[in-house]
Amino acid sequence: MNFNRVAPCFERLEKIVFRNQMQLCRTVYLTELSHVEKVALIGEGDGRFLLEFLKQTNCPQVHYIDSSQVMLDLAQARINKQFPEARPRVRFYKCDLSKENMPEDHYNLVVTNFFLDVFNEPTLSQSITRIADSCCNDGIWLYADFQVAGSRLQQLRATFWLKTMYLFFKVVSNIQAPALIDPAPLLEAHGFRVIQQTEFAHGLMRAEFRRRT
Ligand SMILES: C[S@@+](CC[C@H](N)C(=O)[O-])C[C@H]1O[C@@H](n2cnc3c(N)ncnc32)[C@H](O)[C@@H]1O
Repeated sequence: MNFNRVAPCFERLEKIVFRNQMQLCRTVYLTELSHVEKVALIGEGDGRFLLEFLKQTNCPQVHYIDSSQVMLDLAQARINKQFPEARPRVRFYKCDLSKENMPEDHYNLVVTNFFLDVFNEPTLSQSITRIADSCCNDGIWLYADFQVAGSRLQQLRATFWLKTMYLFFKVVSNIQAPALIDPAPLLEAHGFRVIQQTEFAHGLMRAEFRRRT
């Protein structure tokens, strides 16, 4: 699995297909995070959420984590260009979570935006365990991703989009997952309960604010 090839056109493709819906889904709970001290943005990609997070919070320890060097370079360049004064707050880690542990622990907040959908079942379970183990007892998990939910028509539409996207990412990134797995039961098993949930793109994607209790 390698997102280097698709990284430079990821933002453009996303905007052509979903306009601003994915970014709205990523950022919907940002206003609730002003108190966070240490965050891990996992599989963060080209850094668009990272930039918004830095703008809207004063969080002093922000860890960017991704396995793609090209994604990491794009995110770094984005911060250097658009918000250089925030650069000392960020550490960039090139880390493959399917093989490696999280770089640190005691995170108050972990964020997985359109990231968990890349894994097959065993790796998903292993990655969620690694992330949960790095999180504080009362930690927050922000989750944004696609879903198959709602009316029959919404489910048919979601199934069409997901089949198309998985085929595309199989070809360009050799994505591991054959189809979308809803990680909700695994997140629940690690104690992360839904506090708030919002849907976007007529139910095609959802954002969740979860807290460990
Ligand atoms: C579908 S993209 C989503 C990127 C971004 N979070 C967003 O919302 O657009 C998945 C991201 O996860 C990264 N990734 C895939 N497998 C990974 C792994 N095993 N460990 C860390 N990052 C990974 C990819 O490099 C890519 O940046």
